[in-house]
Amino acid sequence: MSKDQFSRREFLGVSAAAVAGASLAGTPALSTLAAARRLAPSDRVRFGMIGIGMQGNNLLGTSIRLDGVECAAACDLYDGRHTLAREIVRPDLPVTRRYKELLDNKDIDCIVAAVPDHWHRQVVIDAVSAGKDIYCEKPMSHTPADGVAMVDAAKKSGRIVQIGSQRVSSQICAKAKDMIAQGMLGEMMLIEGWLGRNDPNGAWEYPPPPDLSPANLDWNTWQGTVTPKVAFNPYIFARWRCWREYGTGVAGDLLVHLVSGMMYMTGMNQPPTQAMAVGSIRRWKDGRNMPDVHSVLYYYGDLPVSMRLNLGTAMPETYRFQGTKGLLEVTGDRITFTPQSGKDESPSYYAYSFPRALRDAYFKKWHEENDPKIGQVPMPETISFSGPDYDDIRPHLWNFFEAVRNRRPVVEDIVFGHNAALACHMANDSYFKRSAVSSANMSVSSG
Ligand SMILES: NC(=O)c1ccc[n+]([C@@H]2O[C@H](COP(=O)([O-])OP(=O)(O)OC[C@H]3O[C@@H](n4cnc5c(N)ncnc54)[C@H](O)[C@@H]3O)[C@@H](O)[C@H]2O)c1
Repeated sequence: MSKDQFSRREFLGVSAAAVAGASLAGTPALSTLAAARRLAPSDRVRFGMIGIGMQGNNLLGTSIRLDGVECAAACDLYDGRHTLAREIVRPDLPVTRRYKELLDNKDIDCIVAAVPDHWHRQVVIDAVSAGKDIYCEKPMSHTPADGVAMVDAAKKSGRIVQIGSQRVSSQICAKAKDMIAQGMLGEMMLIEGWLGRNDPNGAWEYPPPPDLSPANLDWNTWQGTVTPKVAFNPYIFARWRCWREYGTGVAGDLLVHLVSGMMYMTGMNQPPTQAMAVGSIRRWKDGRNMPDVHSVLYYYGDLPVSMRLNLGTAMPETYRFQGTKGLLEVTGDRITFTPQSGKDESPSYYAYSFPRALRDAYFKKWHEENDPKIGQVPMPETISFSGPDYDDIRPHLWNFFEAVRNRRPVVEDIVFGHNAALACHMANDSYFKRSAVSSANMSVSSG
């Protein structure tokens, strides 16, 4: 497992020219989308499923329950997941180990992919190059350079790409977004987000499928371009998130949700300008090489953002948007806004350092000028909303299939996905380097 895999060179190996290309390479213009094959609104959308693991089985089961959406074929490198796909969809569902068969199939309109992070680049580039729209799981990329290549390929193809960070389709986040856009918070001062877990499952110590073997799994292909290749290892297959060669750590697994939710709620579509992370492998000393505690400070322009992930202490996923007019807290299914006047509600305590005569005069004047009129004492209020959980895969998938059917933009396009993933790569890069990292020359626009 090469230590250089996440080298500074690779991290910044996104040349200004490549980035400039990527920055022009946002969502294809609507005219380009319209030029693609148009399904009639009454047509069924037929998708091919690539990767039917922990997330893929969920996406598959959810997708086939959406109106006018059907699964035409499924692909996985592990035959046990062919059985699973047939159990979910139908006993005679065509299945294969080779995803290119799905890309060559003219009866398939689009792809839904839930493969490990190290396969995202190839699957997305192959899919859009074959003329297929694709829903690809988060984090969009395994490295910044992968992200740039994916943006470029999507632009060239004009195909629709939706990245799977479902906070972007959450009703709770949409409500918070409205509140922020209305100016209820005043000027944004600071944004915080955190999430913690405290159990082996939460720390990715998943049980490998009991029958897994090189006979029913194409282990060589599973490893992709990662070098050196290692002998068959069922723990890597099930727990790939633990190693940077295949996954992106808590940053790509969990922070990406916090970042994309924050980007969506604030309307920011850009990578951070700078990241400074600390972390450690403090709890799960099981051979992993990614931190289980990871805390990162970002600059988004001049806006400070603080995000903390912890696999050793459980804490519900929470955002705190701190503004000059109050505090907005967003958790799984609840939004709470506590307004703040930003004004003194009592005379300054500094005046206790005045001699009595001056102090008394100051207090008297303050009360004359500031005390509420009789019967008009302000009543502090807190506004809260509760709604569906913000882990909203169903509307996120629906948004994608509707975009495919009607050739319209998705809610989380490839540039948004790239910007969110870059924040995660910067968090990892800063952790490994033990220094601040910048995204200078790496920003992309959503244009
Ligand atoms: N949006 C979310 O909330 C969410 C939740 C969990 C996972 N995910 C993402 O989904 C992706 C998959 O995660 P997972 O937990 O389901 O992983 P997993 O290991 O459980 O499943 C991945 C499947 O992909 C298959 N696969 C790997 N390479 C392949 C290839 N080249 N061709 C065909 N099949 C291939 C594997 O055999 C495996 O069955 C990851 O990117 C992860 O970050 C997203």
